[in-house]
Amino acid sequence: MKTERLGHDKGAIEYAAGLLAEGELVAFPTETVYGLGADATQDNAVAKVFDAKGRPSFNPLIVHVSDFEMAQKIGVFSNDARALVDRVWPGPLSVVVPLRDDAELSPLVTAGQASVAIRMPAGTIARELIRALDRPIAAPSANPSGKVSPTTAAHVLDGLDGRIAAVIDGGACPAGLESTIIGFLEDTPRLLREGAYVPDFELERATSPSKNPLAPGQLASHYAPDGNVRLNAEDAREDEFHVGFGTIDGDTTLSREGDLVEAAARLYAVLHEANARHVKNIAIAPIPDTGLGLAINDRLRRAAAPRS
Ligand code: TXA
Ligand code: MG
Repeated sequence: MKTERLGHDKGAIEYAAGLLAEGELVAFPTETVYGLGADATQDNAVAKVFDAKGRPSFNPLIVHVSDFEMAQKIGVFSNDARALVDRVWPGPLSVVVPLRDDAELSPLVTAGQASVAIRMPAGTIARELIRALDRPIAAPSANPSGKVSPTTAAHVLDGLDGRIAAVIDGGACPAGLESTIIGFLEDTPRLLREGAYVPDFELERATSPSKNPLAPGQLASHYAPDGNVRLNAEDAREDEFHVGFGTIDGDTTLSREGDLVEAAARLYAVLHEANARHVKNIAIAPIPDTGLGLAINDRLRRAAAPRS
């Protein structure tokens, strides 16, 4: 893939929004760092984010919105959360709030959780891009996993050239540091990540691991489906719901073509389907432990871990 380097005039932004609408990835500047954007409503597009970054696990992603109305269609804002974003947005603050039941988001964005991180960036290019797409954009920092966050388009290309459709060059990011993340899931707000917004009020830090949703995937049996899960199952027993991959058909399949991006995109939908069918036992075909398969297997091992 050739990564296009775009300007940030109106035409370029509309072109970039068109790429996003087609499910492609576009890196764009925000006031904090460059984000690696995907249409947050498309499973396949969001799966590509993990593939491009080489992320070994499905961390939840921050959803970027252009206005509060868009935010309200995704998350449930308490009075406190609303008051804070009214003061700070647009700006370098992400809030974690309960996910709305009717939110039109790919479950990969929230890693299947019932909470969502939302932010309205101050950078005008970012908001123009979201407005042009007319849908929220899921975006982690636009660097390969484990590498430093990019603050120029050149940094983005250093790490992701050839792995994404385009980058919008909007110059250097003024803050150069990621957004502050504050959780509004309990009675009192909690600081989940320090960042470019410095809170001007007292705030508890997330310390206890059980209450720290920053690393939700670290809990061994997190987001397990209702049924028991058996991995590397080439065949299924009669009492098992078989999830296939590639040449293994199964009762349903993560990807008949053996495509890891498609498998990642379908992962949560398949686990939800198993719940909806009230199956007691789920057998999942082997998934290769390469590329995006690493994140898929990480997630599946957690789903299969003994329940506490
Ligand atoms: O400034 C920023 O926040 C940049 C720009 C692009 O907006 N984005 C960014 O995304 O730093 P990323 O993926 O590098 O970091 C996202 C952080 C992760 O630590 C993730 O665990 C946390 O946000 N996060 C996302 N959704 C969450 C949720 N529902 N609950 C708790 N933490 C969440
Ligand atoms: Mg990052």
